[in-house]
Amino acid sequence: MGDSNNQFLSDGELVEMRRSLLDWYRQQGRTLPWRNEPDIYRVWISEIMLQQTQVKTVMPYYERWLERFPTVQALAAADLQDVLKLWEGLGYYARARNLHHASQQMVNEFGGVFPEDLEKILTLKGIGRTTAGGILSSARNLPLSILDGNVKRVLARLVALDVPTNQAIATLWAMSDQLIDPEHPRDFNQAFMDLGATLCTLKNPDCPRCPWQQFCQASQHHTPTDFPRKALKKKVPTKRLVAAIAYNSRNEVFIQQRPETGLLGGLWEFPNVEGNIEATIKRLFPDAIYKKSLATVFHAYTHFKIEVEPRVYRIKLVEQKEGWVAIADLHNYPFSKAHLKLLIN
Ligand code: ADE
Repeated sequence: MGDSNNQFLSDGELVEMRRSLLDWYRQQGRTLPWRNEPDIYRVWISEIMLQQTQVKTVMPYYERWLERFPTVQALAAADLQDVLKLWEGLGYYARARNLHHASQQMVNEFGGVFPEDLEKILTLKGIGRTTAGGILSSARNLPLSILDGNVKRVLARLVALDVPTNQAIATLWAMSDQLIDPEHPRDFNQAFMDLGATLCTLKNPDCPRCPWQQFCQASQHHTPTDFPRKALKKKVPTKRLVAAIAYNSRNEVFIQQRPETGLLGGLWEFPNVEGNIEATIKRLFPDAIYKKSLATVFHAYTHFKIEVEPRVYRIKLVEQKEGWVAIADLHNYPFSKAHLKLLIN
């Protein structure tokens, strides 16, 4: 290849960077349960859970998931409700719905076996290029590059990238393609992610300990935290919601399920509206008696924030059965994070 125009590092630099990163990884890399895991199903689950989510948050979810759904067949046969319940609190619930959907694709289209060629993997719901690269390099040691958030940040600093990463995706992929060690793709990718997660962090990069310091333009100019350049942020709107916590004399509360598609699809919640809840609660329960309001809870989603004021209502006459759940049974229903906060309020 040599020093062609679109090669951002020389062959000599590439060799030295691979070697120094792998040396560092062998001494300082993290020991994680999905590392050196030959079961590609397990690696898949770990990679999906790790999207936008830290290792320490993922760990207990990963263990619990594999106990409950040890194989793709077990997952495909499960109820979506049980899948969501296991995901409860991990966020970005589309990931759980996609895992469930993709497990059924595997059973129906690929004989219950996780496909190992890139084109087939990319047809699976919820798996894009970086996740596919993460899975195949990790489980099969195949030389497929990755470009997750950690890798983007390391690369942006390496070349002091002067635009936000979302404006240079093709360039960043080309860099990741060039860097990956064709002889050690598994360890290289894992090391790359560890570097971003442990040394080349967003706020406190530890350049003196970084194996790539001498190659890093941001570090050489003592400005690592100036990179990656920030994309202009849209101001996220806040929604003000009021939720009705309706209870009856049988120690039951009234909950409802969100539609299967859309935000937080399939999760359970208390009836809630933007603005005034009185009309809603009176329509559901004409005899509702307002008792009190509890402390407002706050929750931030990716594109908006919500504030929820919980209002407690006592319901005397209960004819309808549907929707009433014993307080002791509430833990069996997957709730959104905001409504979980209401539950412990
Ligand atoms: N983030 C995404 N995949 C990961 C992995 N395999 N190890 C650590 N962090 C990750």
